[in-house]
Amino acid sequence: MLATMPKSGTTWLKALTFSIVNRNNHSVDESPLLFSNPHYLVPFLEIYLYKDGNIPDIDSMPCPRILATHLPYQFLPSSILDCSNCRIIYLCRNPLDVFTSVLQFLLQNGRISSPSMSIDVPFEQFCQGIHPYGPFWDHCLGYWDASLKNPQKVLFLKYEDLKKDINSSVKKIADFLGYPFSAEEEEAGLVEEIAMLCSFENLKNLDCNKEGEIKAAFRAKHSSFFRKAEVGDWVNVLTPSMANRLEKLFQEKLGESGLTLEFNSK
Ligand code: A3P
Repeated sequence: MLATMPKSGTTWLKALTFSIVNRNNHSVDESPLLFSNPHYLVPFLEIYLYKDGNIPDIDSMPCPRILATHLPYQFLPSSILDCSNCRIIYLCRNPLDVFTSVLQFLLQNGRISSPSMSIDVPFEQFCQGIHPYGPFWDHCLGYWDASLKNPQKVLFLKYEDLKKDINSSVKKIADFLGYPFSAEEEEAGLVEEIAMLCSFENLKNLDCNKEGEIKAAFRAKHSSFFRKAEVGDWVNVLTPSMANRLEKLFQEKLGESGLTLEFNSK
């Protein structure tokens, strides 16, 4: 189960995990990712599979099953938490960039109308925890605490760490899921090949991601899932005082949890 707050790099995590787990089924040259947006290969539970009261036949889906969710940890059913060997990967991103990315995504998909609209109201709401899937800090803390209590079950990753060293992150995901790379695979450069396949530059320029749209909570252009992929792009949207306010708020909310988020990446 891949869990994220929207705009934390879900699309990337889906592409990576799909490629790692299915590497014996498809060579990188023939990857379904070359023809399909990652969201079709790893469907969301609540946005797609269980939408509108639908009850999917999960058992009939081929193994290994990779599914995704934006739900907070506290909302996951016990079938995931207690009754199965399901492993969970959580990808966290710094909240300044997430806030910025959400705004741009809504803009690109016509959900907010003017590029010059004031961000004061959405920013205030974000600070108050009024956000899709709940307060950001509760979302990441739920998965953080679970990863400390049960590291075999929950792997906590940060977008910024993936950006810094994707090859180590690919190996970490593979090890966690029980699909470690063999020495031969590493020697043959498979880790790097998967990282390249799933890179922003590669995925963004594929026809399947340049064209078309997906019907999720609303119609979203495939291209809108690939915008800039930069750490620290928030400087173009938020004022320093907004950033300071969020940093202080998060220091307070994360408290003694041990979780740190990168605020000053630029
Ligand atoms: P930006 O809006 O900052 O560019 P999600 O997949 O959770 O919707 O998150 C989307 C964010 O992840 C966007 O950030 C997008 O550009 C970035 N992203 C998408 N694919 C990526 C990839 N392969 N590598 C790194 N970042 C990626």
